[in-house]
Amino acid sequence: MKKIVSMGRGGSGKTSFVALMIKYLIEIGDTPLLLIDVDPDQNLGEMVGVDFKEEGKRTISELLLETFMEGGGTTVGVPPSERIEGKIWEKGLYEGASFDMIAVGTKFIEGCYCLPDASLKKALEGLAKTYRHALIDSPAGLEHLNRRIASEVDDIFDIIDPSQKSFNHVERAYRVAKECKIVFKNFYVVGGYRFPEGLEAEVEKRIKQKYLGKIAYDKEVENYVFSGKSLLEIPSSSPAYNSVKKLMKKAGY
Ligand SMILES: Nc1ncnc2c1ncn2[C@@H]1O[C@H](COP(=O)(O)OP(=O)(O)OP(=O)(O)O)[C@@H](O)[C@H]1O
Ligand SMILES: [Mg+2]
Repeated sequence: MKKIVSMGRGGSGKTSFVALMIKYLIEIGDTPLLLIDVDPDQNLGEMVGVDFKEEGKRTISELLLETFMEGGGTTVGVPPSERIEGKIWEKGLYEGASFDMIAVGTKFIEGCYCLPDASLKKALEGLAKTYRHALIDSPAGLEHLNRRIASEVDDIFDIIDPSQKSFNHVERAYRVAKECKIVFKNFYVVGGYRFPEGLEAEVEKRIKQKYLGKIAYDKEVENYVFSGKSLLEIPSSSPAYNSVKKLMKKAGY
């Protein structure tokens, strides 16, 4: 069981990368998977063909609000982590054939996040055990590291685009992850779809982390995302998919 995190700057291709990873893991039978959408924008569902609302599923933020605020006290009866874990199973977990999915959502509780975040974290640890892998799609930026929803992960994939800021992002992301005491086994740098192939050697020279390779630019990915089609349905001949397959093999999947 591995916990996998995709991160990077806004629009670098994090979510599509997660969707293509999922397609690959399903193809090689490395399932069942747990998908965790930490981005308030909730794009992952659409990219893997799941409409959370239509499925009648609630986000964890909604469930937390209900449990900790509207539901009254936080310490009465069952420990909070158990209370929220039960609710996630019951109301927040989308269950599919090869993957299940939960979304953190937007409506975060005002004031201190400590209790809900700790409960969520604990619940996730319990939840994740039953899966082959858990994949986390992060929002842009690094604040989510601070919330430490997942404090022990196996592989972090940091997607970069061709800008000086991206190089800084890699160093900062690595440092912030360490500072936030996120324990990780591998920190992989991945060239985003906008990254020119000619610059790859340069990247390897400039960064201290392991550069895995680049996600291929693929018009079809753009079309699928634009029309809200699931990337799991993209043909196996897709250049983007094949590049992700290669990256995944390199990372030991
Ligand atoms: N391999 C690719 N080839 C061509 N276009 C791509 C590819 N991957 C992603 N895109 C395009 O880039 C856009 C942004 O991708 P995506 O949503 O995956 O990025 P993100 O980093 O998750 O963005 P955000 O920071 O908003 O969460 C997509 O809408 C899609 O049109
Ligand atoms: Mg995204």
